[in-house]
Amino acid sequence: METSGSLGHGCTMRLQRFLARAGVASRRGSENLMTAGRVRVNGRVVTELGSKVDPERDVVSVDGRVYALFDAHGYLMLNKPSGYVTTMSDPQGRPCVASLVPVDRFPGLFPVGRLDADTTGLLLFTTNGDVANRLLHPSCHVWKHYLALVRGVPGPLELERLRRGVVLDDGAALPAEASVLSQGDPRVSSVCPGGIPRSCAVVGLRIREGRKHQVKRMLKHVGHEVLRLHRDQFGPLRLEGVDEGAWRLLEPGEVGMLEELGQKEAAHAR
Ligand code: URA
Repeated sequence: METSGSLGHGCTMRLQRFLARAGVASRRGSENLMTAGRVRVNGRVVTELGSKVDPERDVVSVDGRVYALFDAHGYLMLNKPSGYVTTMSDPQGRPCVASLVPVDRFPGLFPVGRLDADTTGLLLFTTNGDVANRLLHPSCHVWKHYLALVRGVPGPLELERLRRGVVLDDGAALPAEASVLSQGDPRVSSVCPGGIPRSCAVVGLRIREGRKHQVKRMLKHVGHEVLRLHRDQFGPLRLEGVDEGAWRLLEPGEVGMLEELGQKEAAHAR
C-alpha cells in the first residue's frame, strides 16, 4: 500500500486536518478513514497519519469522492420550518434540511447540531468541520436561546427549579435562564403569531447544553408540556430578519466570533 510523507508544494497541511476542514469527519474520524485505506491523494492511497497535502494542488478523495477546501469556508444560518428532519439525506424520504440550503454552492455543508423535526428556528450550517466539532463537543457550553409555547403557566417555583438545574433521566441539566414572556414581547410571535392561547404561556429558556429533546424534557420535568418550540439564538448568532425556510450567509464578524468561541471552548476543555 502506498503511503506518502510530504506531498508539499509550499503551502501544505496535515491530511487529517484537511479532511476535518473539508467536513468529511472529525480529526479522529479522518485518521480512522486514512488508516482504513479509504483516503487517496492524487490517486494514491495514503495511510500515514503525518502525511501532508497542498490544498490548492493535490486531489484528495475519500471512497472515490473528491473533496476540496475553499479559501473561505461556508457558514450560514437557516430558519428551519417545522416538518424537516435535521439530516443531509433521509433514507425514509422525509423532507430534510438539505433541500433548504445551497449544497451545490458549498459542497460538504452540514448542520451544526440538531433541531427536532417539529422545532423551528436557527440552525447553523458550515463546511468547517473543525469549528463544528469544537462547537459540538460536550464540554462546549455554547448558550442557545429557545422560545417554548407550553401548556399551563409556570410559576416562580418552577422557573427557579429550571434556573437551579433540573435532574433529567440522563443526568442533571446545567442551570438555565428561564422567564415567562409577556404577551407584548415581540419574540412571542415566533411561536404563536396569533397571540398566546388561553391556559398557555411562552417561556424563554437559555441553556448551554444540547442533549436530545432537552428543552422539552426540562419543561416537562417541571410540569409543562411543550406545544411549540423555536430557537432564536445560537451563541452570538441571532435569527432576526431571516424568514421561515430562508437562509443567510453569516457576516465575517459572526464567523470570527464563532471561530473564537470554538477555540476558547477547546482550550477550556483541555
Ligand atoms: N430541545 C428540544 O427539546 N428540541 C429541540 O429541537 C432543541 C432543543
